[in-house]
Amino acid sequence: MSERFPVPPRIQERALINRWEEYSRLYRESLENRDDFWATQARLFLTWDRDFSQTSSCDYRTGTIEWFSDGQLNVSKNCIDRHLVSRGEKPAILWEGNELGERKTITYRELHSEVCRFANMLTNLGVSKGDRVIIYLPMIPELAYSMLACARIGAVHSVVFAGFSAESLGNRIEDCQAKVVITANEGLRGPKTIPLKSICDEAVLDAQSVKAVVVVRRTSNRTEMKSGRDFWSEELLATASPECAPVVLDAEDPLFILYTSGSTGKPKGLVHTQAGYLLYTAFTHKFVFDYHEDDIYCCVADCGWITGHSYIVYGPLANGATTVMFESTPTYPDPGRYWEMIDRLGVTSFYTAPTAIRALEKEGEIWPEKYSLESLRILGSVGEPINEDAWLWYYNHVGHRRCTIVDTWWQTETGGILISPLPGVTETKPGSATFPLFGIDPVLIDDNGKEVSTTPGKGRLCIRDSWPGQSRTVFGDHDRFFDTYFREIPGMYLTGDAAERDSDGYFWIRGRVDDVLNVSGHRLGTAEIESAIDHCELVVEAAVVGIPHEVKGTGIYAFCIASREIRSVEEAEFEVKNTVRKVIGPFAAPDHVQFVTGLPKTRSGKIMRRILRKIASGDLESLGDISTLADSAVVEEIVSGRKR
Ligand code: WTA
Repeated sequence: MSERFPVPPRIQERALINRWEEYSRLYRESLENRDDFWATQARLFLTWDRDFSQTSSCDYRTGTIEWFSDGQLNVSKNCIDRHLVSRGEKPAILWEGNELGERKTITYRELHSEVCRFANMLTNLGVSKGDRVIIYLPMIPELAYSMLACARIGAVHSVVFAGFSAESLGNRIEDCQAKVVITANEGLRGPKTIPLKSICDEAVLDAQSVKAVVVVRRTSNRTEMKSGRDFWSEELLATASPECAPVVLDAEDPLFILYTSGSTGKPKGLVHTQAGYLLYTAFTHKFVFDYHEDDIYCCVADCGWITGHSYIVYGPLANGATTVMFESTPTYPDPGRYWEMIDRLGVTSFYTAPTAIRALEKEGEIWPEKYSLESLRILGSVGEPINEDAWLWYYNHVGHRRCTIVDTWWQTETGGILISPLPGVTETKPGSATFPLFGIDPVLIDDNGKEVSTTPGKGRLCIRDSWPGQSRTVFGDHDRFFDTYFREIPGMYLTGDAAERDSDGYFWIRGRVDDVLNVSGHRLGTAEIESAIDHCELVVEAAVVGIPHEVKGTGIYAFCIASREIRSVEEAEFEVKNTVRKVIGPFAAPDHVQFVTGLPKTRSGKIMRRILRKIASGDLESLGDISTLADSAVVEEIVSGRKR
């Protein structure tokens, strides 16, 4: 059993919840009287235009999930307008640009004007309630303005990470039938410039639904504009009024669609709705980060993923917090970038992914040692299991043993954090996400579909009953939503992760049980990468598996059968990697490509991924006796050609 780390006294003293008994009592109450618990929180955390009479109406037998359904409110009003009286001059967003020294402070009052102008701009372009708007922007304030502007007029945004390719962007535009796309002429990430507008041009080429492309000027380079379709945001905004009344929306109107990878098929457009989502993100932001009014809260995720939605924009702003938006990379211009920013801004909560921690750990302690880091109180981790080594480095060299680490487990589907330490009460264990938050009832299910009631125990992680932040459906395909998450284990939400509960009741997330990979905290389906590789004319068949990777957590290993004789293996490997870069995006490119003459298959023709996974990770001993396999020669060939 690993060492336990007590709650640092200075964290406990100030914490909103600081006694274990208090957590236990509240937790019990939240499960016993679920609706009462959430009804109370909903009235505390949110400002309603019309109060609700029914708290929840959920049925996992059909995948129907509704919270506060006859209530009405506006999310942007909750994130901005209601703070204007007491927090008008408080910074809402502290923007850190790509270059050191490039920064901007946006107060709540300024945020209000900017969001209203963006909302009016969208309305002037013909966008109205229910219309979809694709946002393909780098981490600049206009990204937050666009999201909140959609929320203000009831349009549904879908942010696409600015590292996705034209094809991925195009598929998302097509799937949600977006009316408007908001992009930038170029994006900047460290020393790199990304031609966002030209990627976007390719993506909208056949998109009938797109009536306008709005372009934010991020760099001064020349940009091709198509007359009648493309508009510079600065020109449209010049005539847009800084006042725009928020549209009153139903609690269950859609707020956004976010595409995420699954084990099969194309990415799913998960739908989150207004009130439940906002309540859950605000509630968890407050308790997991032990949020206080004077905090400087900094999450360095990208708004292209759920973490950015929930814990850069919606949760913190609903709580009236000062939230940092970070455009650059952890190592630009040097590996002290985060630590310099933390000292300069006086950051109190810092939230990142294990992959970034591991990358910075490799650069050595000398970088954090240059800075005091004394403003820090809470250090968050998200996106993949954090290994003990990285946890300890974060704890010792960034937190100086005086901060609490919150290893937060959650998913795009869950809207917000479900399992995490609470800073003032939870003794932490490196690598464990510890205990469920209020209202969350995690269950482990064994291979026979039965609940594991023992402690310790392990199984597939499911959640019994609903919580307000849960995704409501897959855009345009409710059957897929039901089939993916509710069909197999009746009465449960199936997360797709495996987990263990140790003898102290701590939860340890053990990774995906399906064919989803967490590569540098980015979620990718093996099927998705395989079908990208299929675009490469050199390959007739491919099988992709995950392998342990020092920095990325999981690396991508692709086995490919060539369509013809290959002259240069090196060139062929490059071709495969490049195809994936083009079809999905650079972050999905395989780390290793191995050409093989065949793949091990079952009699029914299914690829034996278990064997491939073992070979790719070099776990050759546990392959067992392969001579009994139908295609043992294939396995031997693959083993001997393994890339490392
Ligand atoms: C993984 C990211 C271990 C998990 C918010 C989950 C984690 C997937 C943790 C969701 C954690 C996330 N420990 N694994 N603290 N947090 N995961 O949808 O496999 O991009 O199912 O949401 O990331 O990824 P997604």
